[in-house]
Amino acid sequence: MRAVPRCLPCVVVGVVLSWGPVSAAAQDSPSIGWGHRPVNSVDGQVLYSAWCSSCHGPTGRGDGPAAEHLSVPVPDLSTIAVRDCKFNFFHVQAHVTSERVRGEAMPRWRDIIARNYRNDEGRARMAVTNLVKHVESLQVVQVRSR
Ligand code: HEC
Repeated sequence: MRAVPRCLPCVVVGVVLSWGPVSAAAQDSPSIGWGHRPVNSVDGQVLYSAWCSSCHGPTGRGDGPAAEHLSVPVPDLSTIAVRDCKFNFFHVQAHVTSERVRGEAMPRWRDIIARNYRNDEGRARMAVTNLVKHVESLQVVQVRSR
């Protein structure tokens, strides 16, 4: 049994559940392009549709209309919990606050978010938290890290 990867149960559950109900995230319009448009809301789903789904796709699978124009693959955000055996809130948050972005492909959200909320730190923080919670809701397997 030692050779069995620790994540195997997660993977099996993930495969079994992948037919499950998908998020009600609104379908994004391809004309939104890279998704930098201003949004007067802190709702996670609204923000995700406006800013993230152009690349990551409406259900997070990396199949947004802009993805094919990038030189690097867009990761599937709906399987982060399966891959990591938990949904690591801080890992995702670090991408939204631009602290842990590897390449140049993903926009630097820290600046975009600060501009969008006119440096209102309270609303900006709420937006980041709600965005990460929305990404959590897209998981094909719900496993909490906290
Ligand atoms: C222009 C396309 C694009 C947009 C728009 C975009 N991303 Fe990304 N994202 C990427 C690419 C490409 C990567 C992989 C390279 C990297 O990590 O920088 C990535 C990586 C990520 C990761 C790490 C995934 C992993 O496998 O661990 C997260 C989390 C993420 N994005 C969340 C978001 C969120 C939330 C938004 C909206 C606020 C967003 N992204 C908008 C292209 C995009």
